[in-house]
Amino acid sequence: MKIIVLDEVDSTQNMARKLCEKETEDFIVVARRQSAGYGRKGDIWLSPEGGLWFTMVIRNVKANLSTLPMIVAVSTAKAVEKNTEVNVNLKWPNDLYIGKRKVGGILCEVLMSGEEVKAVLIGVGLNVNINEIPEEIKSKATSIKIETGEEHNLMELLKEIVKEVYENLKKPFKEIMEEWIRRDMLVGREAELKVNGRRVKAYISKLNEDGSITIKHDSFEAKIHYWQIDGIEILS
Ligand code: BTN
Repeated sequence: MKIIVLDEVDSTQNMARKLCEKETEDFIVVARRQSAGYGRKGDIWLSPEGGLWFTMVIRNVKANLSTLPMIVAVSTAKAVEKNTEVNVNLKWPNDLYIGKRKVGGILCEVLMSGEEVKAVLIGVGLNVNINEIPEEIKSKATSIKIETGEEHNLMELLKEIVKEVYENLKKPFKEIMEEWIRRDMLVGREAELKVNGRRVKAYISKLNEDGSITIKHDSFEAKIHYWQIDGIEILS
């Protein structure tokens, strides 16, 4: 698979979107640094040198798109666990944690051509060989190097993640859910949510086979999907 390696881009997602016009097969864009990396809610994703920042473009995804972020998160967790000494926890829908601190995230976007899905842009951001986390987010974020004291090869890790993604895309989603549940941080717990702008506490009752999560509150029960950004949001 073609891997395009760049020194610096605004975001590998933006670059992948542009390259999609001339590339006809699946490909990957990886950058040493991003000047305007972004996350699922459009928030800034700090991307200094030392991290693994890449976008994988896949053309013919057969899986239900609501399950895709979970498939990629499980694949990334497994690849990290194979190549390093850490255990990865997963927070629905797209966060990777070591202990209670976030180490990476997945961003899935769809490129449409009319009514048709032309490609999916799968962004993976992983704090691998990052020495220091900015003071303001030190309690919430970490890196593999901070946790293990060791540097890891970014290209080897990237290839392992890509291999896992293609393998896991072929598996029944039930198998992915089992892998997720072993690493899950939310189900069976009370979480803080934002419901139409208001903060409420609710019980996260289960993961569903369509990739959504069910939450229960005294006054409502709801299913949240990855692609649903407005309305209900899990804060912690
Ligand atoms: C999240 O936690 O909200 C997802 C973060 C995804 C960050 C990656 S880094 C590579 C790719 N390029 C971006 O601009 N974002 C994703």
